[in-house]
Amino acid sequence: MPESADRWGAARLGGDGFVLRRWRRDDLDALLRHADDAQVSRAVSDRFPHPYTRGDGIRFLSGEVVDLSQPVFAIEIDGEACGGIGARPGSGERAHSAEFGYWLGRAHWGRGTMTRVVAAFAPWVMCELALYRLFATVLDCNPASARVLQKNGFVEEGVQHCAVRKRGRLHDLRVFAKVRRDPDASP
Ligand SMILES: CC(C)(COP(=O)(O)OP(=O)(O)OC[C@H]1O[C@@H](n2cnc3c(N)ncnc32)[C@H](O)[C@@H]1OP(=O)(O)O)[C@@H](O)C(=O)NCCC(=O)NCCS
Repeated sequence: MPESADRWGAARLGGDGFVLRRWRRDDLDALLRHADDAQVSRAVSDRFPHPYTRGDGIRFLSGEVVDLSQPVFAIEIDGEACGGIGARPGSGERAHSAEFGYWLGRAHWGRGTMTRVVAAFAPWVMCELALYRLFATVLDCNPASARVLQKNGFVEEGVQHCAVRKRGRLHDLRVFAKVRRDPDASP
């Protein structure tokens, strides 16, 4: 593998009660335990299916579902991968901007974990990728995720109406972003 393809292979971001690090093939069982949950997948992309099968997990860990050469990390709690967070930068004239997304196994919800994970990840990835803009989109039925972003200083920019059809229902998509116009400013 060329060095550039695994630029973040050794990255390890520590936080209060979690570690962010590269996904590993031996995360498969833990991934299935936490990802195979309709409550987890209900407000994320269809690339995160339900049921979440062993084949889905294998394809994800092989890099066939999302580009794992990007900063895409497992959230490890008590030695187990139980969620994920990752950013996908744009290309060409949008290379200064990246979208990011995240999920956490239901067993760990409601303890401020994702708020702390985003607090660690967002400034790190903005510096690493020299981003001016980091954004996330949130379905209208996901106030917990919107809250995580708000608590981290992301600004709600607007709503894309009827942007997503998920499980037979149309949803609006809320757009949250953090920007810095000066590349030397801390994100
Ligand atoms: C969204 C998700 C990441 C939140 O993770 P978490 O670790 O439970 O989040 P936190 O505990 O850090 O913060 C959640 C906040 O939302 C609030 N919240 C939770 N449910 C809520 C609801 N129904 N309405 C309004 N606020 C809600 C919590 O009270 C908390 O805010 P507070 O600290 O001000 O009280 C987690 O539920 C998850 O992974 N969901 C499935 C995947 C997903 O939706 N990913 C995001 C896609 S955009």
